[in-house]
Amino acid sequence: MFDHLEMAPADAILGLTEAFKRDKTPNKINLGVGVYKDANGETPVLESVRLAEAHVLKAEATKSYLPIAGDPEYGALTRALLLGESNAIDAEDRALTAHTPGGTGALRVAADFIKRCFGEVAVWMSDPTWANHPAIFDAAGLETKAYPYYDADARGVAFDAMRDALQEAPRGDVVLLHACCHNPSGVDLDAEQWRALSAIIKERGLLPLVDFAYQGFGDGLSEDAEGLRILCDTVADLLICSSYSKNFGLYRDRCGALTVVGASHDAAARAMSHIEKVVRANYSNPPALGGAIVKEILTDAKLRATWEREVSDMRTRINGMRVLFVDSLKNAGVKQDFSFIKRQRGMFSFSGLTREQVVELRTKYAIYIVGSGRINVAGMTEANMETLCTALAKVLQ
Ligand SMILES: Cc1ncc(COP(=O)(O)O)c(C=O)c1O
Repeated sequence: MFDHLEMAPADAILGLTEAFKRDKTPNKINLGVGVYKDANGETPVLESVRLAEAHVLKAEATKSYLPIAGDPEYGALTRALLLGESNAIDAEDRALTAHTPGGTGALRVAADFIKRCFGEVAVWMSDPTWANHPAIFDAAGLETKAYPYYDADARGVAFDAMRDALQEAPRGDVVLLHACCHNPSGVDLDAEQWRALSAIIKERGLLPLVDFAYQGFGDGLSEDAEGLRILCDTVADLLICSSYSKNFGLYRDRCGALTVVGASHDAAARAMSHIEKVVRANYSNPPALGGAIVKEILTDAKLRATWEREVSDMRTRINGMRVLFVDSLKNAGVKQDFSFIKRQRGMFSFSGLTREQVVELRTKYAIYIVGSGRINVAGMTEANMETLCTALAKVLQ
């Protein structure tokens, strides 16, 4: 039955990690995969998570199923983190949340929900975007379209072109937005641009879908939600796909959420009834452990303070590496201006390296970077910075 099948192409980013693992070169450096690394190049379990997990396992009384949308308290805590502790949407009871297996699970459920309830609409996504975005919406049978986003010359957002493209989008189409720490470019909209964009979305009758995978990795937990909150002040309906993979380090526990905001409680409940149908037919109900850990941390003042400090430490380390990288390149004799890396936010940056330079870095220096030139700044450490910048200086000559 399977003999005639062609091999599917390897995942571009995860495939790179496999190649990195096989590489025997000492001092090899992986700036490919999107995982946070600490100053020792490790991705450890957060202290808050370790403590919370011990409490959760001790208190666990059953392994019976969770409800289809998960624990409602987990949903409420998630919304408080996304929208603010005393947000207007929850005060008006206009949102509901489904606990999903990671942010990817949230995106796929959102995609199936859109296909089920809105049929032939297109999903507009930034050019460039996270490689899995088009794959997820394609898999749900939806058409995907791109709006301009990254201005390579200005190393910033091509906002005028983005606005012009979305102004032409047909009513009812979906606009996928990165809440912060844009993957792969590292460039985000500012508050004024979020305001202008929210007005267009409202006027054009588009459905915003906000992907929030890096809350806390840019400028702070609530600072990073500013754009989303501006959008919520303007439009009545939206979908939010959020992830606890990065900010709680719960990558393999697959923990995220899909939040639906409607014009009324009744509207949100109608939407959630369809989301539950989608979940039931996909994976039935969510995995419990990650969500229980998040709930334990967010409801225990001491654990929460520990977690907030840990998020702040991760963010400070990444932003510190941005500064050190730019300074170290200069010290290594690189003439090109890389100061834009300091302005970008989150784990990723578009370095501007060409495909040829990326190949040379891998083959000659065992430095692994995605072909687009996207680098994971969190893969940099004080220990590998000199090796990295010396190699880059040679490649950039
Ligand atoms: C932009 C973006 N969205 C969503 C996700 C999904 O994260 P996960 O499914 O691991 O929670 C990622 C992960 O890399 C991402 O970069």
